[in-house]
Amino acid sequence: MRKLLFFSNNKNKIIEIKKIFNKFNLELLSLNDLNISEEPEESGKTFEENAKIKSDYGFNKTGISCFADDSGICIESLNWKPGVLSKRFLNNFKSNEACFESIIKSTKKHSKQNAYFKTSISLTAKENHNIVFNGKIDGKISEQAKGKFGFGYDPVFIPKNYNKTLAELSANEKNEISHRSIAVTKLINFLIN
Ligand code: IMP
Repeated sequence: MRKLLFFSNNKNKIIEIKKIFNKFNLELLSLNDLNISEEPEESGKTFEENAKIKSDYGFNKTGISCFADDSGICIESLNWKPGVLSKRFLNNFKSNEACFESIIKSTKKHSKQNAYFKTSISLTAKENHNIVFNGKIDGKISEQAKGKFGFGYDPVFIPKNYNKTLAELSANEKNEISHRSIAVTKLINFLIN
């Protein structure tokens, strides 16, 4: 069985991605499985750059083919920010609910509802060589935060052609359409072909 390291400590993401990998004959290791706790600074300006920083670091440290993802939400009423700063943006509020309120307020104020999530996955399987796979899901900001599933910005994001937020969809339903699963499926197709 082919071994791959997923350079992440984010439990939710590991669960989401392990579910997808389970269908294939690929053994997925996470940083936790290898007792790696240090991570490089995500100093890139794009999702692609940050994903590459992490996959190169994991490969150079372990010698195991390594992939990393970097993702976030881009919101029209915030001039398509926070993007690569999505995690920091959320953490700067006293609670997720306060962040959601602020996003909803700005969406209403500017009458601009559009948003998208993007994931870039970088795979480093050789020294000085990486490949990037992107996934994107378009949608809009909801009028209220809703739902208990998922993580991060899921309660305020309604995917295009849906009338529920991502946090109201089950993990399996989210996996069928998410930015991350689109990018992971491209990675898996590359690995098995
Ligand atoms: P990361 O850098 O890929 O870990 O993602 C940065 C941040 O983007 C996360 O901390 C979340 O707040 C947000 N994010 C990324 N993917 C998702 C998602 O699928 N749902 C909701 N929020 C997400």
